[in-house]
Parts: sequence; C-alpha cells; structure tokens
Amino acid sequence: MIDIIRQWFPAAAFKAATRQFRADVFRGLRAPQKELPCKYFYDNVGSALFEQITELEEYYPTRTELGIMERHAAEIAGLLGPRCLLIEYGSGSSLKTRHLLDRLCEPAGYVPIDVSGGYLRRSARALGKEYPDIEVLPLCADFTRPLALPACRKVAARRVVYFPGSTLGNFAPEAALALLRQTAVLCGCDGGLLLGIDLQKDPLVIEAAYNDRRGITAAFNRNILVRINRELGADFDIKQFAHRAFYNAAQGRIEMHLVSRRDQVVYVGGVPFVFAKGESIHTENSYKYSLPALTDLAEAGGFAVERIWTDARQYFSVAYLALRHSGPVFSVQCSVIF
Ligand code: AVJ
Repeated sequence: MIDIIRQWFPAAAFKAATRQFRADVFRGLRAPQKELPCKYFYDNVGSALFEQITELEEYYPTRTELGIMERHAAEIAGLLGPRCLLIEYGSGSSLKTRHLLDRLCEPAGYVPIDVSGGYLRRSARALGKEYPDIEVLPLCADFTRPLALPACRKVAARRVVYFPGSTLGNFAPEAALALLRQTAVLCGCDGGLLLGIDLQKDPLVIEAAYNDRRGITAAFNRNILVRINRELGADFDIKQFAHRAFYNAAQGRIEMHLVSRRDQVVYVGGVPFVFAKGESIHTENSYKYSLPALTDLAEAGGFAVERIWTDARQYFSVAYLALRHSGPVFSVQCSVIF
C-alpha cells in the first residue's frame, strides 16, 4: 500500500518518510549507545559521496565486485535463465547491473528499488534509453519492508533478486536472516538471489577502505548529521563530530561512529539531546563474511548455494542462491537449454 502511495502521491509519501525519519532518529539518539540507521546516509548528497567512495584507491569492494561480474556475466546470466524478472535492492546507479542486462536472455523486466528517489528516477531513465527492449519499473521503497511489485507487461519465468554492493553486510545477523526469508517469499517458486558480499581479510586492508586519506568517507559519515539538520530542523555543529571507523574482530564487522569532540547539547526539532565529550553515535556496521558463514546464512534463509564466484585474492564474493524447494536440478537444466 505504501508503495502505491509513493508512486502516485509523492507529496504524501514525502511526509510519511519524514515522519519515519524523525521517529528513527529520536529512537536512535535516546538509546544508551546512540545510533542512527545507515540507510539514511543515502540522500542526494550522500549517494553522490558514496559514488566517490567507490572510486577511491583504498575502497576495494566495488571494483573487485565489478571485476567478478565482468568475468562471469555469461555464466551468471545462464544460471538466471530466460525470461527472468530482475529485481534489484539498493540499485543506486545500476552500474553492475549493466553487465547482467547485457547478457540476460529476454528478461521479463527490471525493477530497481532504492530509497533515494531522485537518484533512482535519473538512473532508471538513462537505463530505459540504453535498453529499449527491457521494461524498467523503478520502485522508490525501503526493501526491508514488505514490497508490492509493479506489474510488468511480459510473463516472467522466475523472479531473481540482485542484491549487490555488500549491502547485506549492513544488517546484523538476525536482520540479515529476516531479509533473506522475506526475499525468499518475494521470489516465490523457482526464484533466486544473486548476492554480492564482502569477505573477511586482513583488518588493515578493511580499515584503510573506511578511513581514506581524502576524507570522503568522513564526509559521507557526517552527511547524515547535515541531513538531520536540514530535514528535521536540528542544529548539529558538524565540525564537533569526528569520523571513526575500526574493525571489530569479535563481531567480524567494520563499525563507523561519529564521536563528539566536546560536551554539547544538540536540538532536533526542538528536542534536546546531550552528548558527553568522547561519546559516539554508531552510524554503520559492515559485516565481512567467510564463505562457510555465507553458506550457513543462505541455508537458514531457505536458499541453496548454487555457485560462488570470487576474485583471485578472495576479497569479495558473488553468490547465486536458489530457493531450496525448487532444487538445483532445475537451474542446471535451464543453463543447458540456454
Ligand atoms: C554500500 C554498505 C556496501 O559498507 O562498505 C562505504 C557503505 N560505508 N564506506 C560499505 C560504506 C562507508 C558500503 N556499502
């Protein structure tokens, strides 16, 4: 229902989204360990900053994942099979998707889903021009909530969710499992999930990727406060919050925080929040997986691992997971026909 409202009544959707944003910010800033949900990084400025991050020398994930997609695009398209409806979670600029769209056999359609509406519309329009034979149906929505898919003209043989960019790594284990289970329901019979996820490696390599020399990641992190100032009427003094990112080995994740440089009070929509010097707002977790942990998660979510591709250094992985009840046999037959 919310998705239908978003598509047809952008103004109403805007108010609902702002209300949700304020509720999430208040809840996060009232917690003993202050926190903000990382999905709020991605307004127009945040999405553009993230694009810059992906080009940084230290930030290996995007370029490594692109390499894997380039190298194995034909095999991946074969596993997805003919006439699939491709649904993408957190599509951003849909850069990696082009490798798939180039190879897919008569896709039934492409549904990019993103919370950043402006970004989504622009890239969907560009994509529609580049691929005139593919029906592009952008959906401005939060993919962690139940989704109503737009109707496409062609009949789909199966639904496949593409979830690249290691975004699943932003979810704590229980939330990641819940999202996988919800995805299994969305895909239905014979569906699949093509998942790009960052792997565990030397913590120094990981920490460098989140502490770039040019300070783009710091600006990306602080932008969430800029956004709260603008959209919720707050008075965060941005310079008074330091970027901090470190690898938490016990949890197998990178954590990003914004650390208060002094004792201060910040007002958000007239409501005061007290910060002690050194106190932090936890803004993001980015879990790094091992291949066995990834397999366990997939199976617990109701999927079977069909295939995992990695790069030579085993920095990153792309996995094709098929819904377990359809079994691997069907996909193998498809790729033979294909
Ligand atoms: C888009 C979630 C994959 O966790 O690496 C980049 C976001 N945060 N630098 C990540 C991010 C800091 C990114 N993901």
